[in-house]
Amino acid sequence: MNIDLSGMHVLVTGASSGIGTAISRALALAGATVGVHYNRNAENAKALVRELGNGACAFRSNLAIPEECSSLFLDALEKFDTIDVLVNNAGIIINSPIEGDAGQWIEKWNTTIMVNLTAAGILSRAAVNHFIEHDGGRIINIASRAAFRGDTPDYLAYAASKGGMVAMSRSIARAYGKDNIKSFVVAPGFVRTGMARQFIEQYGESIVVDDLALNRLTEPEDVAPTVVFLASGVMDHATGCTIDINAGSYVK
Ligand SMILES: NC(=O)c1ccc[n+]([C@@H]2O[C@H](COP(=O)([O-])OP(=O)(O)OC[C@H]3O[C@@H](n4cnc5c(N)ncnc54)[C@H](OP(=O)(O)O)[C@@H]3O)[C@@H](O)[C@H]2O)c1
Repeated sequence: MNIDLSGMHVLVTGASSGIGTAISRALALAGATVGVHYNRNAENAKALVRELGNGACAFRSNLAIPEECSSLFLDALEKFDTIDVLVNNAGIIINSPIEGDAGQWIEKWNTTIMVNLTAAGILSRAAVNHFIEHDGGRIINIASRAAFRGDTPDYLAYAASKGGMVAMSRSIARAYGKDNIKSFVVAPGFVRTGMARQFIEQYGESIVVDDLALNRLTEPEDVAPTVVFLASGVMDHATGCTIDINAGSYVK
């Protein structure tokens, strides 16, 4: 089977590192024009745009700020005219023990929900409205195993944000299928990126690998091909589904 995304415009949030970079590379390899979103890491984003070619373009926005979420979609539309696929990939994880100061805990909770869930909601709303006017489109949400298995107590907000993302994705799939809009979740387990580095450095890689059914840690490149597959349309009748990529660490 040949997957050809030529002519498709795909906006990938958090494309400046980790899983988002791997997704962008895989999409471009399949022929897509990629909107490379970033916040702080302009250097990586701009280098990636040069590497991808094919009309790729970088867009900066801080997804902790609602207005910047809305303007991101508009900026991408202005550049590309149409967007066919939105990949909600940007995310954060903040260590926040419940024993600490309540004010700080609430602040970290709100920041996590804003970046991981509210931003994805604002972008999905903009995408759905655009797709309704342009005969459809696809949304691919990068959630987490934590949405289903739960996380450790220091990361309650992270798990909650990803659970919310799953519910949002399923709702969009059910509500807008007749408008030719499809929505999917990809739920990675532990993946070797900047987000996971701190844990690996603190506890060692073997702790993570021991938890897997497979014998090596998942790399960003193990996640990316699924996104290409979902973006292509061959999986449209699986709309509303979640694809787990967790090396067999949580089978449901
Ligand atoms: N790594 C894992 O083990 C794992 C497991 C399950 C799910 N996931 C999910 O996979 C997705 C990608 O994670 P990753 O591991 O690739 O992490 P990463 O390497 O830390 O990358 C995170 C990306 O999100 C962007 N980002 C963070 N805060 C932002 C903000 N306020 N505004 C705009 N963009 C922001 C970053 O942009 P800048 O660097 O440009 O600021 C970066 O591109 C996340 O949603 C994460 O929850 C990861």
